[in-house]
Amino acid sequence: MTQMGTQSGAKAPRAVEGSAQRMYTKDDPDMPEEFRAFMIKLLKHAHVENNGNPHYKKVLAHIAHGGLTYAPDGKAMMIEAEIIKQEVGHGEIVANIIRSLGEDPYYDKPVGQYAFEIPYECWCDVAWFHMLIDRVGLYVGIEWLGSTYEPLARVSDQLEKEELFHATVGFNHLRKIVRTPDGKREAQELLHKWWPAALDMFGRSDSKNSGTYVRWGIKGKTNEELRQQYIADTVPLIEKLGLVVPDNLANRRYL
Ligand SMILES: [Fe+2]
Repeated sequence: MTQMGTQSGAKAPRAVEGSAQRMYTKDDPDMPEEFRAFMIKLLKHAHVENNGNPHYKKVLAHIAHGGLTYAPDGKAMMIEAEIIKQEVGHGEIVANIIRSLGEDPYYDKPVGQYAFEIPYECWCDVAWFHMLIDRVGLYVGIEWLGSTYEPLARVSDQLEKEELFHATVGFNHLRKIVRTPDGKREAQELLHKWWPAALDMFGRSDSKNSGTYVRWGIKGKTNEELRQQYIADTVPLIEKLGLVVPDNLANRRYL
């Protein structure tokens, strides 16, 4: 396990005993309609990164504005610009996978991840966004690595690597921030805003769709299993910063 990486790292397509699981390719004549419908539900209706969704432009502009406004120097601005370029790339990758399913990626509704709407008020907010929220993107990327839809599994390695870069950038910024007593106090205070937002991104633990995604091998874990994996891996990193992790149930909107 690398310092910032995860313990799962699934690579090979998931195969579950006694289920309809197998790898489906683009234009696969055997692709069941429910499989196609859930792939579209996942990528178009439940995932924020999609250049076919006008609301994603607002999310990108929000991240870019916060990152470039509060970046302490030119080097940090360059990193923020690189992150935005990669996030635009993710939106294009996902839009193309939606198209590969014979579906128009255009969808004019926000996909309901409030973590992307939290205002940035300082550099520490931007650092927590990268360390905790981009980190959720890393877990999503890992999940897709073993996806039973071949075009998605094929691009997930890049998504995973780039989200790991974003999360590592956030951790490194926080290591600098907590070096001063004021910085440490600010980081601890803002953690109470970003930690519940990150945990809520995994969705409801009683979600009925969660089981169907796992049954088709589109996802390997349920919402709650992936959230617990995230907590297990991320708490040691926050403690490494000398900070106290808030109660996992405090200020949550989706349990
Ligand atoms: Fe990211």
